[in-house]
Amino acid sequence: MAQVLGLGITHYPMLAGADTYMANLLKSTLKDPDIPADRKEFSNWPGLAQREWGDDEGTSAAAAHRAQLLAGLTRCREALDEFRPDLVVVWGDDQYENFREEVIPSFCVLAYDDTDVEAFAVLEKLKVPNAWGLPMDTSFRMRGMPDFAKQLTADVITSGVDIAYSYEQRKGIHFPHAFANTQIFLDYDHVGKEFPYPIVPIAVNCYGEHVIARRGGMARFAEINAGERLDPPGPSPARCFELGRAVGRSVRASDKRVALVASSSWSHAFLNDKDWHLRPDSESDRRLYDALVAGDHDTWLKVTTRDIVDAGQHEMLNWFCLLGAMSELGMELEWSDFVQTEILNSNKVFAVYR
Ligand SMILES: [Fe+2]
Repeated sequence: MAQVLGLGITHYPMLAGADTYMANLLKSTLKDPDIPADRKEFSNWPGLAQREWGDDEGTSAAAAHRAQLLAGLTRCREALDEFRPDLVVVWGDDQYENFREEVIPSFCVLAYDDTDVEAFAVLEKLKVPNAWGLPMDTSFRMRGMPDFAKQLTADVITSGVDIAYSYEQRKGIHFPHAFANTQIFLDYDHVGKEFPYPIVPIAVNCYGEHVIARRGGMARFAEINAGERLDPPGPSPARCFELGRAVGRSVRASDKRVALVASSSWSHAFLNDKDWHLRPDSESDRRLYDALVAGDHDTWLKVTTRDIVDAGQHEMLNWFCLLGAMSELGMELEWSDFVQTEILNSNKVFAVYR
């Protein structure tokens, strides 16, 4: 009989970098000439932002943030080891990595064989050294489970949610970092070594109208104000919930022990246009976190694509998938934590469902 564990984690790229670089996204944002000077002025920042920035431009806050994130990751890894999964299914976003102008699928199962993954490809691009002091060309093996991935795809399509699938990753580009970092962070003390569990990634088009327009990343206000050529939206939050339900049904019908993982931070400062990319929308995050803790899925189901984009919560679509599966399978939240930050780009949430 199938057994399921649910987890929510982050794939925050800067956690793989050294502390002195963790506030780099904000430092870069502060150089955007089209952000009003009074918004950039330190003395006008909220109290938490001022405390985090401190007198070392966030380096001490980065160490404290890392400690909080590692505590959450350790808790999730312990739950994983105790559960002993046959495989781990991960919902993550593709940020203009595997999927580009040729095709942007709303959902895509990556039915790959074992894959060699460059651990620090994103950091290299950002010119940030890794937190472990490892060679920057360190790679690791991500084990796949293509037969399971194909069955999952077939089941989900048969139950009424169309989903794409891929047998080969794009050449000439790093493996999508949402999935790479999920393995790295769940195996934080053994980067580059063998991870005990195969991974089946499900890519979700979280970036929607910004996936090609902003290449799944940051934009300057000059470009935004000049009128972006927005892309069609990603799948709606409710549709992601439906996909999660369909994945839950497929998993239930298997004879496997499956960990289902939502991999993403919550509101991202660099996507939160209304606050000039200076901070995440913590109010919106708190509202959804409170609902998550209360098991109140109705509040989540009322969220629209517009709400998500306006709050810079694009990547939370991964969590809508997880909640759909947890709802379908009647699973309960056993433990969670909300890690707030003003200056380190995004709030992060950890969750364990049994
Ligand atoms: Fe991401």
